[in-house]
Amino acid sequence: MNTASPASTAIAQSAQRRLVIAITGATGSIYGVRMLDMLRKLGGVETHLLVSPAGWLNIQHELQLTKDDLHARADVVHSVRDVGATIASGSFATDGMIVAPCSMKTLASVAHGLSDNLIARAADVTLKERRRLVLLVRETPLNLAHLRNMTAVTEMGGVIFPPLPAFYNQPASIDEMVDHTVARVLDLFALGPALSPAWPGLRGGDE
Ligand SMILES: Cc1cc2nc3c(=O)[nH]c(=O)nc-3n(C[C@H](O)[C@H](O)[C@H](O)COP(=O)(O)O)c2cc1C
Repeated sequence: MNTASPASTAIAQSAQRRLVIAITGATGSIYGVRMLDMLRKLGGVETHLLVSPAGWLNIQHELQLTKDDLHARADVVHSVRDVGATIASGSFATDGMIVAPCSMKTLASVAHGLSDNLIARAADVTLKERRRLVLLVRETPLNLAHLRNMTAVTEMGGVIFPPLPAFYNQPASIDEMVDHTVARVLDLFALGPALSPAWPGLRGGDE
């Protein structure tokens, strides 16, 4: 892990692929953490990590991870207050950004172009540069503001990807459920051979 600095920028410029990963204060911080783990395992993708203060609260509560545990999983870690960071500019090339999980507050900021921290700014940049933005929005039930904000982000080209577990793959554990969702998200970035197995089809439903 490098903290953002001119030296780490030089490292970043030599990388083949780059993804911004943000973890915000919705429940389900495991999705962002597994995303980093899977990208590390995959290799060849430089990860830029952002964690909101509420995201930290949930990481500590749900996963009992320290900042060092988490930072070690990323290549570059940015403070959400650092609106002068590389990823705040469209001139810094990335393959896109994933917010996992994405709170309704961050969703609202993105939907309204309110770049009040580096997470919202990096998402704004991702949309303006027409790069892929995937939000693992998590709340239930949903009010009209949430639904309208999801529609607005979709209209701007973002992908709303609620982390809803699938059962057709017969997961044996929470880890398998999480990994399946994370693999489906990463497949949206065409990082190589598909990480999630293709559905083989099912016969007999009309009998
Ligand atoms: C334990 C806990 C769980 C939360 N779960 C959610 C959630 O699932 N969805 C959500 O939108 N907000 C949730 N929140 C509220 C957000 O953390 C809060 O709105 C915060 O301001 C979001 O800020 P951020 O987007 O900058 O992380 C939760 C808060 C706590 C403390």
